[in-house]
Amino acid sequence: MKTFRLFILLATLLSTVTLSLTLLSTQAEAQMASSQFRMKFIMNRRTNMLKQQEFLVKQSKDIMPGEIESMINDALSPDKTFEERMYFLDNANAMATMYKHEFGDDSFLAKIQTIQTMELSKQEAEAIEQSRWFDYEGLRGSILMKEHLPQMEEKGQNAVVYPHWLHQIFFTCKTCHADNMSMKKGSNDFSHSEFKEGKQCGACHNAKISFDSEDPARCDSCHIREPQLVQRYAAIDHEAVKATALRVSSVWDPDKLEEGVMPLDATGAVDWLKLETIGASKPSPSILPEAASEALRDTFIVFRVKSEEPFNDVLFSHKVHTTRVNCGTCHANNRIFKPELGSNKLSMAEMATGTQCGTCHGKVSFPLTNCQRCHSLKPGATPKGALVAAPATAK
Ligand code: HEC
Ligand code: HEC
Ligand code: HEC
Ligand code: HEC
Ligand code: HEC
Ligand code: HEC
Repeated sequence: MKTFRLFILLATLLSTVTLSLTLLSTQAEAQMASSQFRMKFIMNRRTNMLKQQEFLVKQSKDIMPGEIESMINDALSPDKTFEERMYFLDNANAMATMYKHEFGDDSFLAKIQTIQTMELSKQEAEAIEQSRWFDYEGLRGSILMKEHLPQMEEKGQNAVVYPHWLHQIFFTCKTCHADNMSMKKGSNDFSHSEFKEGKQCGACHNAKISFDSEDPARCDSCHIREPQLVQRYAAIDHEAVKATALRVSSVWDPDKLEEGVMPLDATGAVDWLKLETIGASKPSPSILPEAASEALRDTFIVFRVKSEEPFNDVLFSHKVHTTRVNCGTCHANNRIFKPELGSNKLSMAEMATGTQCGTCHGKVSFPLTNCQRCHSLKPGATPKGALVAAPATAK
């Protein structure tokens, strides 16, 4: 399984490299125009002009060592991405090969080949390091935290996995994502010095609301040893969860679950709303002092889909969202949406980059592949009392 994943990763990597090389060539060529020789050499190479290339090289014996060296320097300058580096080195290699062929000096070629091998193995090491962490974020919303990995390893601890799903049983989003904790992975600087002051994880992991972040017996609960130890939905300990729910003013009633399992949607995501409708769960919104409870907004908004083929329109419920999320998370400084009807240009392409509805959907809430859940309205339909964000497109 591991090897297979690594293979996929490397294959993806390779195809991105090829793709970016094509995309890159125009941009890199512009940069390289500083040198006439360089530009001609690369053009000849791309258009396969072998005779012209040979002629060019024969004429350029004196300047070629300098050209090759400056190409290597450009390749290794720190602002270059891996793809850019490989592009420059590849052309330097071609120059050095011709130089060897015409003038018998192979020292440049040997040097470039060594650099190319080193760059490739560096990249491979990075790919292996990344694949090491694959399993850790296996469940929707599980977040790998390893900003301070060297310090953790120094204390014999592995990286942390924060499991959204387990916390979602007990708390609504606004409990933690009050305006001071951003919904962006890696944007909040977590550390034990904050925990000890009762902040961040320490707001709850303080031996009162939940286990203590400073308890030597509990380090492994967060700094997990093996990715498999991240709790799975199926491994949920109902009695323990029930007891905790009671302690934190939320509800967990496993008897309401069908055959004792969490309801999943077609994409394998937990159906949190169904959990509440069947009465199995009621997360608490306000266990922390800063999570002040706001008034809910009870409007429905219809987004008419603009597409060639008729496609179901989208129904957005302010109530469902404000039960869980503070107004400010979406509207403060127009952070995600401007709070005016029809003022946001929404599109699937944008969402897929993790913005607009995709800020939450696909990361923690149900994924964008669950089309029908958002596109739930017949084209042109308007439920009674709903606001319409954009006029229907003419048929
Ligand atoms: C118990 C606390 C807690 C609760 C409850 C909680 N979150 Fe989070 N959330 C976090 C933490 C911690 C992070 C990681 C932040 C970081 O890395 O800086 C996070 C990160 C996120 C991210 C960024 C994910 C990414 O991949 O970039 C999103 C989106 C998010 N949360 C949405 C939600 C939603 C939606 C809910 C409610 C359904 C929710 N959260 C409930 C603690 C919480
Ligand atoms: C409630 C979860 C939790 C528990 C329990 C926990 N940690 Fe951490 N720990 C974290 C998080 C979160 C970070 C920061 C993650 C990051 O750097 O991205 C962290 C960071 C660290 C760091 C890096 C430096 C620092 O102070 O932030 C060390 C060292 C560390 N933990 C050791 C321990 C030890 C030892 C224990 C047991 C006594 C422990 N942790 C228990 C969540 C926890
Ligand atoms: C709003 C309160 C709250 C906050 C904030 C919070 N947690 Fe938790 N966490 C809980 C509760 C409650 C549980 C359930 C465990 C229990 O029974 O106490 C839990 C359980 C966990 C578990 C599962 C441990 C196990 O083995 O069952 C991990 C891991 C964890 N939290 C990590 C974190 C990290 C890391 C942070 C900070 C980024 C954090 N939590 C912030 C309340 C919180
Ligand atoms: C999950 C994100 C989200 C949250 C949380 C949220 N909104 Fe909105 N809001 C939206 C979206 C999306 C629109 C539609 C904008 C458009 O039509 O382009 C909207 C539109 C509005 C509008 C204009 C339409 C209407 O309903 O009258 C107002 C006013 C508004 N929001 C106020 C609020 C207030 C007050 C809160 C908190 C109680 C809140 N919103 C919470 C996403 C959110
Ligand atoms: C989280 C909610 C959500 C999910 C899930 C979702 N969409 Fe959308 N979709 C929207 C919104 C909002 C719009 C913008 C409507 C508008 O033009 O104002 C939209 C627009 C579209 C459009 C119009 C053109 C465009 O690309 O923006 C098409 C087509 C579309 N969606 C298809 C799909 C398909 C197919 C899926 C499933 C793979 C899907 N959507 C999943 C919310 C969603
Ligand atoms: C700040 C986070 C956030 C943003 C942004 C967001 N949602 Fe949601 N949405 C949630 C949460 C949390 C739920 C509860 C279900 C879940 O967690 O899977 C939810 C549920 C839904 C539901 C299910 C409602 C039902 O009655 O079944 C729909 C539909 C939906 N969102 C559409 C949208 C659309 C469309 C947008 C963009 C206009 C959007 N959401 C933006 C967090 C968000």
